[in-house]
Amino acid sequence: MMLKKCLILLALTYSQMAQGNLIPLPNKIESYQAESIVLQQKSQLVCPPEFKASAKVGLSHIELVNEAGSGTKIVVVKDGSIKKREGYVLDVNEKQITIKAKSASGVYYAMQTLKQLMYPKNEADGYYVPALKITDSPRFAWRGLMLDSSRHFQTIPEIKRFINNMAEHKLNVFHWHLTDGHGWRFESKKYPKLTEIGAWRMQPGYPTKGKKEKYGGFYTQEEMKEVVAYAKVRGVTVVPEIDMPGHCFAWVAAYPMTGCLEKEQGTDFFYTYPADAQRFPSKPGTDVLCVGKKETVKMCFDILDELMEIFPSKFIHIGGDEVNKSWWKKCKHCQAHKKNKGLKNERELQSWFIKQLDNYITKKGRRMIGWDEILEGGLAKNATVMSWQGEQGGIKAAKMGHDVVMSPQTYIYLDHGQSHSPQEPPHWPGHKPLDRAYSYNPIPPSLSKNEAKHILGVQGNVWTVFTHEEWLIDLCTWPRACAIAEVGWTEHKQQNWDDFYKRLKFHRTRLDAMGINYWWEESAELGAWANTKLLPDNKPVTLTFDVTGKISAGDNQINFQYTKGAHALNLHEVNLLEDGKIVTTDKHEGITGSEHRKNTYTLKLPKLNPKASYTIKAKVSGSEGVDSHGKVRLDNVQTKVLKKLPYE
Ligand code: ACM
Ligand code: ZN
Repeated sequence: MMLKKCLILLALTYSQMAQGNLIPLPNKIESYQAESIVLQQKSQLVCPPEFKASAKVGLSHIELVNEAGSGTKIVVVKDGSIKKREGYVLDVNEKQITIKAKSASGVYYAMQTLKQLMYPKNEADGYYVPALKITDSPRFAWRGLMLDSSRHFQTIPEIKRFINNMAEHKLNVFHWHLTDGHGWRFESKKYPKLTEIGAWRMQPGYPTKGKKEKYGGFYTQEEMKEVVAYAKVRGVTVVPEIDMPGHCFAWVAAYPMTGCLEKEQGTDFFYTYPADAQRFPSKPGTDVLCVGKKETVKMCFDILDELMEIFPSKFIHIGGDEVNKSWWKKCKHCQAHKKNKGLKNERELQSWFIKQLDNYITKKGRRMIGWDEILEGGLAKNATVMSWQGEQGGIKAAKMGHDVVMSPQTYIYLDHGQSHSPQEPPHWPGHKPLDRAYSYNPIPPSLSKNEAKHILGVQGNVWTVFTHEEWLIDLCTWPRACAIAEVGWTEHKQQNWDDFYKRLKFHRTRLDAMGINYWWEESAELGAWANTKLLPDNKPVTLTFDVTGKISAGDNQINFQYTKGAHALNLHEVNLLEDGKIVTTDKHEGITGSEHRKNTYTLKLPKLNPKASYTIKAKVSGSEGVDSHGKVRLDNVQTKVLKKLPYE
């Protein structure tokens, strides 16, 4: 009896804590004086038929039934007076749980908030939910993540899991990068060689040296329709991308006539992880479509037809990024076409091609979106711009009256690193830690109120050059996608890093329950250095830090982090001393400045003596000057590596 009381108390405490730790933060929370209520394992759902599927999928860990049960019931009401399509009101009181929403998405989101409020364990006595009223709707209509299925291939269950994890964080656009140089993943019935040839490559040395099978795969049209339906019920729109006219190596390998070279080319030298990340391979072949030929343009239209048949989304992504135009300069077809159309240069040729796609997609009643290079040579009339190189493309397009999705690599590219720890797996160069992602405001201050209306929202991109398995995709996506979810959902004035980080610490229990493998590291500060501690002429000095009570048995990662000053700090050697005697040393050359190299030292302590005092001595020198300041930290990486992940 006593134990049961304790458990109830624990669950009640949890439910109150959960209320203060929602992610993304709802825009309005009002607490009732009443106690928490209990939601049974089996609860009655009263719901308009058109919302039922989203309600049930949204709260799938309890059984929602039609007939009255013994406990609290959930009543869903369609409410046209709610301003935004995805908005909802969630009212939890002693009598019942009431959800008001305008759309199935609103119902799904109310269920996600409810789920976050519930005790995450499957308690036999039911789930405790705090009595409250939440009135909520998103800041932006586009809250996306892109997943690159070309550089590395994900299975359909992996795709669905990615979408589900997004949706539970109220992210609502799954931008599916279906084609790129390294592999074509979209089944075309009209052009079967795209997948017969373009979907496969060799995998020398991985995972077993000399392994003969090819690496790759593709999605059948039926599978892609299944993904669309799976996403829809979770409020997620799938925006497909066929990247044109660059990033087309696999396409040209399948149909050599679509390239300027008109020669056979193979995809065999595109290795899988460790990545051969080159986008413009020096090997023979081209990754650019020959846009000077009518047949190429016709093929693009045909593929778009097939794509639009499968994906009902308003937006169709045509890529348009990083086109190596030197091929066109050497091509007689492209040059003749350029002359014919009176185009001044290759940038205008690219623009001409994109305009053809825009006209075609617009005629079909859809809207074309492309990466910000589509601004080059003149933006197509109806184009929406996805700003990735920074914010400038987005700002320019919004000022021209075009819609924009902000996805700048300077803040929220999820293939960039998020840590300085040597334990972080290989990633695309760049450092975009969690706080950087959270600090992003998709509305640049240089836009007027009217121009800002063109910012549809925000999107983080998961390029998979370095991520060949699902646990790695998880690791680069989470928890930064939590930050992106809040940037996209919560009103800007309500966003606060310290509060978010506190909530995220609690939210880890939910990420754990969801089986998400996320990057997590907490560092303890061991000390600092400043200009006054360094000697001129690059002379080495020894910095000493007392680390008693901070160090533990096993590997201790000591990280040197420059914070300010005109000079970097050279790092030579770090020792750990127990009662004044060296027990372990890491001797290697490192540097920390505006750029860092090998700035973490690993000190392995075989056994911790609780009575001993521990000191770190670091041999360092100023790099061409003494104006260097920084911090020394002990990094504690708590990330789990989950090789096996649960599916639904
Ligand atoms: C891109 O990252 N190339 C869009
Ligand atoms: Zn050409």
